[in-house]
Amino acid sequence: MDGYQSGFGNEFATEALAGALPVGRNSPQRCPYGLYAEQLSGTAFTAPRADSRRSWLYRIRPSAMHRPFEPLAAGRIVSEFGEVPTPPNQLRWDPLPMPAAPADLIEGLVTMAGNGDVHAQSGGAAHVYAANRSMQGRAFYNADGEMLFVPQEGRHRFFTELGIVDAEPQEIVVIPRGVRFRLELPDGQGRGYVCENYGAAFRLPDLGPIGSNGLANPRDFLTPVAAYEDVEQPHELVAKFQGRLWSARMDHSPLDVVAWHGSHAPYKYDLRRFNAIGSISHDHPDPSIFLVLHSVSDTPGTSNIDFVIFPPRILAMQDTFRPPWFHRNVASEFMGLVHGAYDAKAEDFRPGGASLHNSMTGHGPDAATFEKASRADLSKPDVIRDTMAFMFETRLVWRPTRHALESAQLQAEYYRCWEGLQRHFDPARP
Ligand SMILES: [Fe+2]
Repeated sequence: MDGYQSGFGNEFATEALAGALPVGRNSPQRCPYGLYAEQLSGTAFTAPRADSRRSWLYRIRPSAMHRPFEPLAAGRIVSEFGEVPTPPNQLRWDPLPMPAAPADLIEGLVTMAGNGDVHAQSGGAAHVYAANRSMQGRAFYNADGEMLFVPQEGRHRFFTELGIVDAEPQEIVVIPRGVRFRLELPDGQGRGYVCENYGAAFRLPDLGPIGSNGLANPRDFLTPVAAYEDVEQPHELVAKFQGRLWSARMDHSPLDVVAWHGSHAPYKYDLRRFNAIGSISHDHPDPSIFLVLHSVSDTPGTSNIDFVIFPPRILAMQDTFRPPWFHRNVASEFMGLVHGAYDAKAEDFRPGGASLHNSMTGHGPDAATFEKASRADLSKPDVIRDTMAFMFETRLVWRPTRHALESAQLQAEYYRCWEGLQRHFDPARP
């Protein structure tokens, strides 16, 4: 807990120097230590109090101090979708290999699919990344959306304006829209997934009849305490704005916030703390029971994006096919695997890999999993220990990028995992 404050969306308050936070004023005439006061808002000023996200930052220099932005090549980061037709096929990819040349997060990000519109602040993008060096002398911010990181390999250190977040695989980190940060890789390399959410900020779901506990509990979300660097050396500030990357020079580190208070702040969450809830009689609840965070849309009950996990759990349902069933959904599912194996697939869905099943595309357990589960002994529970799969699920169709569809990692034979399903129908045998 050292270095973090517990809670979700709270009004946090933290200072790296004693007395740096003004008392009773957000913007006093003169701030302690000669700091500048600056507000960073993540929601409309008039948003309902429960949804409001804004923070007051007390920093060595205001964020306005930089040279003009100039275009920067976006590499494999894409924000407009529809360049290539979206096939209704089931799609699956092997893990992205580590880059041959040194690459940091920005250079190592690859957009796999997206939807909606950065200009309209709705929809999102699903990225993977493989990087083999820390960001050096450069910081990044995303004006197009918040970024939910799902590290899959290597420790990650996010040095953000609002403090330091350390994360390892099976934890997630959310960097809010606009917050500047540098990603360092203490193990020399790192891999993972990013959900870039153009829409409303992620929040915890209501629990309805589940009650006041369960799923992801608010106290397990950790927001960093203030930490700053006072570095008077040339830096590069990279912005993602309106689907493109931009670069500006500055003569100091932008990570110079000495104290801050507010609710627009990074956080992390350990997925192993998720309290999974499921059936104790028969059948499966819908996978919405595995919802960690969601971005609401303007249609009640229908998310812009859901972040869903399939964590370790115990399946004890009777007279029930226990793995996930065959299904077609109106929603579209981009899936990844952080650790272990996923219980609906016998092979070839590897940690670091990804799959995509879009709206109304049939999918489900492969032939080997179906045959095994159909004959399984249900007198004992199945204890699924080594697994951590997740889903970026949206109401909009995930439109794969050209890179994703032409990638060497695309498994062209994926459809064959259902080819071995046997015909069991016999009208003479009920
Ligand atoms: Fe599915």
